[in-house]
Amino acid sequence: MEGKVLLGQSLIWAIILLGQIHGYESCTVKERNALLELKKHVSLHSIKGGLSLVLPTWNNDTKSDCCRWWGVKCNRTSRRVTKLSLGKPFFLGTSLLNLSLLHPFEEVQSLDLSESSFNGLFDDVEGYQSLRRLRNLEILDLSSNMFDNSIFLFLNAATSLTTLFLGENYMDGPFPVKELKDLTNLEMLDLSDNMFNGSMPVREFSYLKKLKSLNLGVFCEMENLRELDLGGNYFVGQLPMCLGRLKKLRFLDLSSNQLSGNLPSSFSGLESLEYLSLLDNSFQGFFSLNPLASLTNLKVFKISSTSSDMVKIETESTWQPKFQLSVAVLRFCSLEEIPYFLVYQKNLRLVDLSGNRLSGNIPTWLLENNPKLQVLKLTNNSFTSFQMSTMVHDLQVLDFSENHISGLFPGNIGKALPSLVYMNGSKNGLQGNLPSSMGVR
Ligand SMILES: *[C@@H]1O[C@H](CO)[C@@H](O)[C@H](O)[C@H]1NC(C)=O
Ligand SMILES: *[C@@H]1O[C@H](CO)[C@@H](O)[C@H](O)[C@H]1NC(C)=O
Ligand SMILES: *[C@@H]1O[C@H](CO)[C@@H](O)[C@H](O)[C@H]1NC(C)=O
Ligand SMILES: *[C@@H]1O[C@H](CO)[C@@H](O)[C@H](O)[C@H]1NC(C)=O
Ligand SMILES: *[C@@H]1O[C@H](CO)[C@@H](O)[C@H](O)[C@H]1NC(C)=O
Ligand SMILES: *[C@@H]1O[C@H](CO)[C@@H](O)[C@H](O)[C@H]1NC(C)=O
Repeated sequence: MEGKVLLGQSLIWAIILLGQIHGYESCTVKERNALLELKKHVSLHSIKGGLSLVLPTWNNDTKSDCCRWWGVKCNRTSRRVTKLSLGKPFFLGTSLLNLSLLHPFEEVQSLDLSESSFNGLFDDVEGYQSLRRLRNLEILDLSSNMFDNSIFLFLNAATSLTTLFLGENYMDGPFPVKELKDLTNLEMLDLSDNMFNGSMPVREFSYLKKLKSLNLGVFCEMENLRELDLGGNYFVGQLPMCLGRLKKLRFLDLSSNQLSGNLPSSFSGLESLEYLSLLDNSFQGFFSLNPLASLTNLKVFKISSTSSDMVKIETESTWQPKFQLSVAVLRFCSLEEIPYFLVYQKNLRLVDLSGNRLSGNIPTWLLENNPKLQVLKLTNNSFTSFQMSTMVHDLQVLDFSENHISGLFPGNIGKALPSLVYMNGSKNGLQGNLPSSMGVR
């Protein structure tokens, strides 16, 4: 009898305990319902079609813990949703996202709405202030949708954002300065592959201050910015002087735009800069690299100009750089001499000087100075001779095609460069047999 009572009590305890564990583990009812609402919204438009095919783990079964659903992450103690992804549903046609559907996720920190074909945001109650409700939102990924500039009005309310991905959308026109001005916590902003074409402000930013709108000046105010990728847009005009204020900027990619003019002297203030790409722009005339001389952290520098006849990288200056590059790309820069700052580099892995007017002997001193050099591209220049010294080097890729090198191939090349996996010496005037040292390992 006593035994039965004890057993009964234990059972009750076990049930209570299980219930508590279960209740403890599960996400909140409010967020669970909100997730199902969101799923309904998504599946109405998704190319995948049907409630059972879109986000299949998001189900109706009250026993299933929504913190374990695909794309959902919760805080382990509060069980509130902190991370949410829609799983790239790819909508049929286009669709607006009703931002009100996100309001129940009060503690969400990271939202991934990429690759969904959304073409707009709306909130029929709170309007442009909608995202202010998500007070903990730090990371927002809206890349690869069909958003146009209209979403900036919503985004400016997401003041807690540190990371914002907007690449591959349909934003265009001049730059949305006013619209993003309140995002003062931004550290990373990706706007690549849009269609911005606004002109960049010229040096006098007193003039900019007056206008305070519609150009890249927006970035100058974002003093916490660490990465800025604006590659593949239609920016024209000169690099803005005020960009030099971004002391924390580590990565700056302005490749494939239509920038012209010179490097602003203020770039000497980009003291954290590690990566600078100015590839494929329309720089013209005398282009001085002096502002970069004092950047101690610079590791990667790339530049090329589409108006190749015009740009002229300054080479005479004898400044001694404070940086040690690992990647140096200076293509189509009308170089007649190798820029002197390369003489000071000891840590280069890749050097590309293609499409210039360099002449004389192939610069094997680059190998001597840089024991870790792996790739050396010198195609389409005017080099006339190729002589190897007796050293041995681990270079893997050597391209000196399209030059004016005549005479015999350096006999010792196989011994000197035993690690070569690719060599291109086509379109030169070389004669005779390939040296027997080649192919010997
Ligand atoms: C919930 O389950 C019921 C019954 O299986 C179904 O009719 C309903 O569509 C489901 N709702 C959602 C949001 O999945
Ligand atoms: C999880 O939630 C608890 C209680 O709300 C909070 O104190 C804690 O900081 C949160 N943890 C994380 C990693 O956000
Ligand atoms: C947007 O979502 C909210 C919250 O679920 C809802 O109350 C509102 O009716 C929705 N708006 C439209 C137009 O569907
Ligand atoms: C920039 O793009 C907008 C919108 O496509 C267009 O109206 C404007 O003329 C363009 N401006 C320039 C300078 O190309
Ligand atoms: C070689 O460089 C010149 C400019 O220096 C350029 O006009 C030409 O198109 C280049 N050739 C190739 C094949 O890239
Ligand atoms: C070698 O260089 C020439 C001229 O730059 C180029 O046309 C050719 O494709 C290259 N060959 C290989 C195998 O890459």
